Amino acid sequence: MSDAENKSLWGGRFEKSTDEMINEFQASINFDKRMYREDIEGSTAHAKMLAKCGIISEEDSEKIIAGLQKILKRIEDGEFKFSVDLEDIHMNIEKALTDDIGEAGGRLHTARSRNDQVALDTHLYVRRQVREIQKLIIELQTELIKAAEKNSEVIMPGYTHLQRAQPILFAHHLLAYFSMLQRDFSRFAGVYERADIMPLGAGALAGTTFPIDRNFVAEELNFEAIYSNSLDAVSDRDYILEFLSAASILMVHLSRLSEEIILWVSREFSFVELDDAHCTGSSMMPQKKNPDVPELVRGKSGRVIGHLVALLTTVKALPLAYNKDLQEDKEGIFDAIDTIKFSLSVYSQIIAGMKVRAENMRRAVEEDFSNATDLADYLVKKGIPFREAHAISGKLVHYCIDRGVFLKNLSIDEFKKFSEVFAEDIYEAIKPETCVKNRNSLGGTSYTQVDRQIFSAKNIIDEEILKLPEKFR
Ligand code: ARG
Repeated sequence: MSDAENKSLWGGRFEKSTDEMINEFQASINFDKRMYREDIEGSTAHAKMLAKCGIISEEDSEKIIAGLQKILKRIEDGEFKFSVDLEDIHMNIEKALTDDIGEAGGRLHTARSRNDQVALDTHLYVRRQVREIQKLIIELQTELIKAAEKNSEVIMPGYTHLQRAQPILFAHHLLAYFSMLQRDFSRFAGVYERADIMPLGAGALAGTTFPIDRNFVAEELNFEAIYSNSLDAVSDRDYILEFLSAASILMVHLSRLSEEIILWVSREFSFVELDDAHCTGSSMMPQKKNPDVPELVRGKSGRVIGHLVALLTTVKALPLAYNKDLQEDKEGIFDAIDTIKFSLSVYSQIIAGMKVRAENMRRAVEEDFSNATDLADYLVKKGIPFREAHAISGKLVHYCIDRGVFLKNLSIDEFKKFSEVFAEDIYEAIKPETCVKNRNSLGGTSYTQVDRQIFSAKNIIDEEILKLPEKFR
């Protein structure tokens, strides 16, 4: 077979070209082409290093770098033709470069393997995406703070077991999600740290015979650290697993928020209403206004969790070092990235457009027994042991249920039948405002505590912004 027939980059060892279907099966170009920028960035740093270390000439290095810039432009202008025969983004770009600049292009891959190259590209890609995601987390946190401030007096029932439990401020509920997102932000900061390690120079697995300078590459690409073991450098997918874990937890948070919003917009709750622009109707039932966005976010959380489980399963029995199984890391993380970025963005809009039906929340608090703990606490403050106070309050609730009334409807004489210590001040003590105001323990739902949370949440946002590099702010 002539050279012309076997066009692949490893043609030398083979007598036959790869089967067409096998080619397609192996190829990752359809999804890894989204790392073109990182691939060019990495190759540029590598070419600079090769020249600096005297491994290739300055002239070749310059030709390579200029050639890569032209390819970058062609890709961004949509003029680059990606080929499945060339398997992946690395070989597509290298082949185009060699076609363009000739022999110099053939020198680019000196002291490098696709194994450390793909690792480098993915590290660069994940690093950038983490920053974009952190920015979107801040945006959603900001919307939550705004909604909390706008509704700082609104009282709703807080739930346990989805049963009305104690009155809380709606703002307090929203700020719980702020705190969850704060942990998500910091988890992604951890992911960044573990993605901020430079793998290039590991070669295929064992390092290289050329006198390379890995520190130079790390500095060029702004990496904090360098993999100290070449086998680890090409085999490590921990940072992707960590990314997917952080992404899964974030999606679980958004899914829980979604579940609540879906409940809240139902007729049964009617606590909030979503903006018309964020809902859809039914093709059959004219009255419907469906919370599709929260439902979809809740649904999509399953798929991100799926990507995490898939990659854990892929990696768990892999021997060192590179195995083609590792190519399976990409579709999952790419999809997870798209999914969380989209979900965060739509959620900022959902929160911004959400109308709060304070009167309905109020009714749910008034027409129930979520002030029963406050009744017990009242008795305790009058000297009765809590256990006994709990029993008395329980009996009072039972008494009310039998009569179809609420605690506030009882006369003082009725109260006194259950305990002598009841006085006129009981009515004030069981008002929703009092219940809320009195939960003034650190982190509680009182007005003062919630104001403090809002104040500190704003400071946290400022700190988070400062943790992002300028261009991502
Ligand atoms: N497309 C491959 C991947 O994503 C690149 C590395 C391939 N290396 C190899 N020796 N086949 O993992």
